Amino acid sequence: MSHTPVSVAPFSSALGAVISGVDLSRPIAAPDFAVIRQAFHDHGVIFFRDQILTPEQHIAFARQWAPIDINRFFKAVPGYPEIAEVRKEPEQTTNIGGGWHTDHSYDTVPAMGSILLARETPPSGGDTLFAHMGRAYDALSEGMKRTLEGLQAVHGSAHIFGDKGHHARKTDNSGRIGNEAAATQEVVHPVVIRHPDTGRKTLYVNPAFTLRFDGWTMQESEGLLQTLYRHAMKPEFSCRFSWAPGSIAFWDNRATWHYALNDYQGQRRLMHRITVQGSPIPPAASVSAAPQSAAH
Ligand code: SIN
Repeated sequence: MSHTPVSVAPFSSALGAVISGVDLSRPIAAPDFAVIRQAFHDHGVIFFRDQILTPEQHIAFARQWAPIDINRFFKAVPGYPEIAEVRKEPEQTTNIGGGWHTDHSYDTVPAMGSILLARETPPSGGDTLFAHMGRAYDALSEGMKRTLEGLQAVHGSAHIFGDKGHHARKTDNSGRIGNEAAATQEVVHPVVIRHPDTGRKTLYVNPAFTLRFDGWTMQESEGLLQTLYRHAMKPEFSCRFSWAPGSIAFWDNRATWHYALNDYQGQRRLMHRITVQGSPIPPAASVSAAPQSAAH
């Protein structure tokens, strides 16, 4: 039987690569896996097309990378606690992930990556944007880099997933997000991380889950955080991926941001997401609660 070699085609000048010549429904041979892993590290997000996987095959693919890091807020696919459902029904107006963010940055050990498989896609719209935070960091001035080098930032999830958070306030979110009581932890990560696998310096704050610089109030943090976000959102650090059923995006949560566009009102979009475990980002440290003066 002939073997089609796996191939890697860069997707944009900023980030992303399309992988072809591989069938993810089966275990990946070691030489192919090495090529795919290198592409993941080189490009930050890798895309596959026409991979019609069963939930079991999706889980098996994820486990070839790392143990699964089950998301505690998303509703799971029935019978598969490892798979989070990213769903928008025709009558729902809000979507999940509709703003720039990094999955799980609110965890002490953030998830290494997320493997999103498209099940049902709208006839048009519903693309996902990705941005490369290593490139964003590289383009900062030397003065800004020196300023950020010693800073740490506090990340949390209560304002998004908590009982008074973004999702709880939306009336059309019932059944999609739950377990609000688990949204208590705040963690501290360096503002510039050294990527655990590539060693590349990378900006590690994001508009959704970063609350403030550690030791600064929210008000004091706002200006510098917004400056960094405006910089990182520049089109030259980003790409845009259009989905079809069977498309997969596998992104590195330590290297990228992503943003699910909500431009398909009245249509269903259903995606299955598995997050896989990462390794500690030194010198990240857990803190139990925000100082009162800094939390508002
Ligand atoms: C997510 O934010 O994990 C979901 C992204 C998407 O649905 O495109």
